[in-house]
Amino acid sequence: LAKIEVKLSDIPEGKNVTFKWRGKPLFIRHRTAAEIETESNVDMSTLRDPQLDSDRAQRPEWLVLLGVCTHLGCVPIANSGEFGGYYCPCHGSHYDASGRIRKGPAPLNLEIPIHTFVDESTLVVG
Ligand code: FES
Repeated sequence: LAKIEVKLSDIPEGKNVTFKWRGKPLFIRHRTAAEIETESNVDMSTLRDPQLDSDRAQRPEWLVLLGVCTHLGCVPIANSGEFGGYYCPCHGSHYDASGRIRKGPAPLNLEIPIHTFVDESTLVVG
């Protein structure tokens, strides 16, 4: 199976970089302290697809997502929408900075692919 290696030091804090992996967009987001704080304090009862931020991000500062909207598969736009994460322009789904669906027609959170932090600055997805 195809793996991709990402050098984390190339991704500045606050930025979401898109890679291509197995024919799909792969988002790697270097989260800010404020984003981590916000996402770790979200009330689970307000979530459509309840998942703790700590269960989605192995390392709080790094979020690894498939950039495929769980509604009908469009590519969401980073740092956009009402919840500070991602916005899918196709039919208006809003995701937070943990990739969790917060508003709009998408049923599920953005998928997290299998990934491993090999060392401080190297991530392998796949
Ligand atoms: Fe994203 Fe429909 S495909 S909202």
